Amino acid sequence: MISFRPLRAEDAEAVARIERESFPTPWSREDFWREASNDFACYIVALEDAEIIGFGGCWISFEEAQVTNIALTSAQRGRGLGRLLMTRLMCAAAERGAERMTLEVRPSNTPALRLYEGLGFAAIGVRRKYYQDNGEDAILMWHTKLKDFADERCSAETDARD
Ligand SMILES: CC(C)(COP(=O)(O)OP(=O)(O)OC[C@H]1O[C@@H](n2cnc3c(N)ncnc32)[C@H](O)[C@@H]1OP(=O)(O)O)[C@@H](O)C(=O)NCCC(=O)NCCS
Repeated sequence: MISFRPLRAEDAEAVARIERESFPTPWSREDFWREASNDFACYIVALEDAEIIGFGGCWISFEEAQVTNIALTSAQRGRGLGRLLMTRLMCAAAERGAERMTLEVRPSNTPALRLYEGLGFAAIGVRRKYYQDNGEDAILMWHTKLKDFADERCSAETDARD
């Protein structure tokens, strides 16, 4: 069974493992351990039964949420779980008062681009040579109607609290 809950400090190792599997310049276990107690951070983990299979997070400053990372284990990708996880993250950010959400994504990352576009994010610009590993540009995306999204899509069932 798939479930979601907020990140806990003891999840740091499992989440860092997924991060290493997903990104060329991964955050460390210590980074996630710190994020678990960062008052400005909002992280959700996805579980299949008791095993962590994905996570997503953002930093919230007043009405703005900035997505830091979202990833699933490679075995779990392409089954619609990214959409569920991102929806949970958007709901959790809206519940914490965020009205807008922003993120960067590689132009080559088709699944991520389709995920964000499908949830109402729009590309508003490009950050030239943003990614240090290969000098790839980043597409800058914003969702400016997080409250409307939450009214339509977030319910008691999608409440991110455990
Ligand atoms: C990005 C990620 C979280 C998306 O989660 P996912 O579960 O794989 O995606 P979903 O199954 O929910 O699909 C989301 C959209 O991408 C599309 N998609 C999924 N896999 C795809 C693929 N391999 N090629 C093309 N499109 C794909 C889906 O069709 C869907 O689009 P649609 O609604 O228009 O049909 C996941 O692929 C991942 O962990 N990737 C590695 C880490 C990463 O790149 N994170 C994002 C950094 S910006």
